[in-house]
Amino acid sequence: KKNLVIAIDGYSSCGKSTLAKALAKKLGFIYIDSGAMYRAVTLFFIRNHVDMSSDAAVEDALQHIELNFHSRDYESHITLNGEEVSDEIRLMPVSENVSEISANKLVRHEMVKQQQRMGKSKNIVMDGRDIGTTVYPHAPVKFFMTADPKIRAERRFKELESKGNNTTTLEEVFENLAHRDYADTTRKESPLVRAEDAIILDNTDLTQAEQLDFALEHVKPFL
Ligand code: C5P
Repeated sequence: KKNLVIAIDGYSSCGKSTLAKALAKKLGFIYIDSGAMYRAVTLFFIRNHVDMSSDAAVEDALQHIELNFHSRDYESHITLNGEEVSDEIRLMPVSENVSEISANKLVRHEMVKQQQRMGKSKNIVMDGRDIGTTVYPHAPVKFFMTADPKIRAERRFKELESKGNNTTTLEEVFENLAHRDYADTTRKESPLVRAEDAIILDNTDLTQAEQLDFALEHVKPFL
């Protein structure tokens, strides 16, 4: 069987994971949420007060982190050293720190290495910021997703609300997205940028079904 990688990159809260999950389900591929890995690392760094200005401290921390995915129905359930952290990594303390921590060169090298290993001889859909540029530059199908920032903030706010959050305001969500987009696109180490061969998908006015159809059309030739 073929070993096909579908790379999905784009701004924060653009629906990357929703499309990635739908594609994986439809095609029977494995879905890998690379953002969840950076979020889990961030949670570990916050809890352990890791000094980001010290390479030795960062290296040491990375050696004490073991991440695992449990695919239940293509939701991404991630464990950090055996602890289920899927919900906690979506909350504000992690969201507010993840872009700084994921800009660290040592953190990125370790995550990229693990992400490349996870896709070896498997059919996968991976979403993130640098999948089509750095992790899988030779992926045959790449999407670059974008949407109106206000719509993105509203979608993420509703998602938080539906999970019982009532402390974070829509404005805070909007600010956080803007901040992460800025940090992600301007960092030195593999910044968020569209790979030259990535197909742009602006989903501001598209339903989830329309996005899936659009993506499937582009994937079909490679199946
Ligand atoms: O995808 P998600 O929004 O959960 O990612 C959280 C953060 O992790 C991003 O804002 C970005 O800073 C970082 N990230 C990254 N590279 C990836 C995936 C996520 O730097 N491949």
